[in-house]
Amino acid sequence: MTALRLSGIGHAYLGRTVLDRVDLAVGAGEIVALVGPSGCGKSTLIHVAAGIVQPLRGHVDIRYVRHGMVFQEPRLMPWATARANIAYPLRLARIGRKDRRMRAEATARRVSLEVEDLDKFPIELSGGMRQRVAIARALSNQPDFIFFDEPFTALDVALKRRMQDLVISASQEASFGALFVTHDLFEAVRIAHRIAVMEAHGQGIVGERWINGVPGERTDRQIFEIVTRYLAEDGLFRHVNDVDERRPP
Ligand SMILES: Nc1ncnc2c1ncn2[C@@H]1O[C@H](COP(=O)(O)OP(=O)(O)OP(=O)(O)O)[C@@H](O)[C@H]1O
Ligand SMILES: [Mg+2]
Repeated sequence: MTALRLSGIGHAYLGRTVLDRVDLAVGAGEIVALVGPSGCGKSTLIHVAAGIVQPLRGHVDIRYVRHGMVFQEPRLMPWATARANIAYPLRLARIGRKDRRMRAEATARRVSLEVEDLDKFPIELSGGMRQRVAIARALSNQPDFIFFDEPFTALDVALKRRMQDLVISASQEASFGALFVTHDLFEAVRIAHRIAVMEAHGQGIVGERWINGVPGERTDRQIFEIVTRYLAEDGLFRHVNDVDERRPP
């Protein structure tokens, strides 16, 4: 069963084409990692898929019921407590105050936030806690699909790993599918069922690989071996880290 299908997506900013004929489908409950060089149009594609940007060409076919979204920066409302931020999608869905509170607290527990943190404002939280609030906000209305745009890039290694585990287990428990943009092939191999590689100038998906095993069950050794093989032997991944100004050459 397909949750999301992008067909022939094309987009341009100020007359400059950034996406051209991009086709990509994600199955229900499937996690697809989207990788590609910096500036190739991954964020634009995810914004098109989530309905934030109207594409110039192509069609977005949505089969899921409700989606959540996690951006690279937490993008919390600074004037609202962590609890109110997490409950925001529930408020939009007109869920009653008492229910909102209960569901926000239950979701906060899933991302290992303490109840006493929930009365704090974003400025009073650490960067990792803010990103957990953002993840809890995405989970709170029980979406069956989540868009992630490099959500863990700013986190340290240990926290990044915990957050990846959380996405894997939450996706299995709540059976949501996801389109997960990342620069990190280790992260992609750890959390996804499949990796799709975008062409350097947004000219479609150049190829995809189904990753052996199941997310959450691959050992560190297996992940390391898969990534090493991709980088050493698989031409598809040759340009993934090109033109990436955030990595040293
Ligand atoms: N709002 C905008 N107006 C004009 N150009 C934009 C806008 N947003 C993105 N672009 C351009 O579109 C291209 C694709 O940008 P996008 O942010 O989608 O890339 P990306 O693959 O997500 O890159 P990164 O990996 O660095 O996040 C880039 O050349 C960028 O400069
Ligand atoms: Mg981006």
